[in-house]
Amino acid sequence: MSETSSNAIPAYLPLRNDLIGEEPYGAPQLDVPVCLNVNENPYAPEPAVVETIAQRVKEIAPTLNRYPDREHIALRQAFCDYLERESGVKLEVDQLWGANGSNEIMLQLFQAFGGPGRIALSCNPTYSMYPEYARDTFTTWKLAHRNEDFSLNVDATIKAIENIKPAMIVLASPNNPTGTPLKMDDLKRVLNAAKAAEVEGAAEGVHPVVVVDEAYIEFRDPGTPTALELIGEYENLAVSRTMSKAFAFAGARVGYLAANKGIIDCVRIVRMPYHLSAVTQAAALAAFEHTDEQLSRVAHLRDTRNQTAAWLKEQTYKGQPLEVAETQSNFILFGGHFDNRDRIFDELLQRGVLIRTVGPDGWMRVCMGTDGEMARFREALVEVLRIVEQD
Ligand SMILES: Cc1ncc(COP(=O)(O)O)c(C=O)c1O
Repeated sequence: MSETSSNAIPAYLPLRNDLIGEEPYGAPQLDVPVCLNVNENPYAPEPAVVETIAQRVKEIAPTLNRYPDREHIALRQAFCDYLERESGVKLEVDQLWGANGSNEIMLQLFQAFGGPGRIALSCNPTYSMYPEYARDTFTTWKLAHRNEDFSLNVDATIKAIENIKPAMIVLASPNNPTGTPLKMDDLKRVLNAAKAAEVEGAAEGVHPVVVVDEAYIEFRDPGTPTALELIGEYENLAVSRTMSKAFAFAGARVGYLAANKGIIDCVRIVRMPYHLSAVTQAAALAAFEHTDEQLSRVAHLRDTRNQTAAWLKEQTYKGQPLEVAETQSNFILFGGHFDNRDRIFDELLQRGVLIRTVGPDGWMRVCMGTDGEMARFREALVEVLRIVEQD
């Protein structure tokens, strides 16, 4: 078993030339007992939440002959309320925008600000979907490199902004697959550089948009600031968030964007009409009625992450301790010197444990599961490392 399965496209179809040979994106969806590969919250919604979702969807079902609220105003208000409570940042409805997962938010940003003749810049290693948004919108994709510890190389990033003149700078915080947080001072330096930079293919006086992807931000240590705090100060800052991770709502597909109204209005130009179904809006509003329950396992998952990171550091492979990247997320990049990570992946899978081979060579990523799942992961990993290091 490998991470991808092949996709045979019939030769008679006029698939775009640049897509020939491409594979659909996605981690394997396998029916195994311990799934620790896509950074979900492993805890299912409580019965009271399920009940409210069912009730709210039932309430809107008789209106399903009509299109939903295209502007999803009630949901945008719920995003505002949530962000004020979660981060202490007060935003207005016209500074929020929702979509089908933050994947769709990002695609809309690329549709609005990328495109032919435009460049998007990010910092490697990072989320492997970003180049796909660029490809799908004919945006040129460029990378600056992170430091060896995966923190942002701010000087290299600023130099790239000045030289490349990107329309968009995309930074994940915490970063995926490394878990690395983005320091506020580093972000401010990038934002200031963007404020002064030009954009290739755009008129004079146009500056890049800085997109901070905060998909995992609720897992940061309490008290750590978020990029949301800088929206008032920087008009070219866009912060992407999601209900998929800490909020335990991945199946509903709800992501959102916080930014100044100008950015939201650009995104509104490219969105599909009625892109957020009435069922999605009702389910998301129902979940926000139970914010406490939905977030109730976040602190525990943070503890699990810290304990797992400490445990991983005590493990060895071929006589050397495993490396563990600093993480503020619900996953951990570990290993550093695995010389056969595909074999480790396969052996873990044979033991019913699915993780991911992503990131630089030699590293693997595991996301935090329930206590029982993490115990099985530990047991399987110890066994597998002993077997594979004999090869
Ligand atoms: C960094 C990052 N951003 C965005 C997403 C997409 O999340 P969703 O579309 O479920 O909101 C993911 C999912 O794994 C991610 O890792």
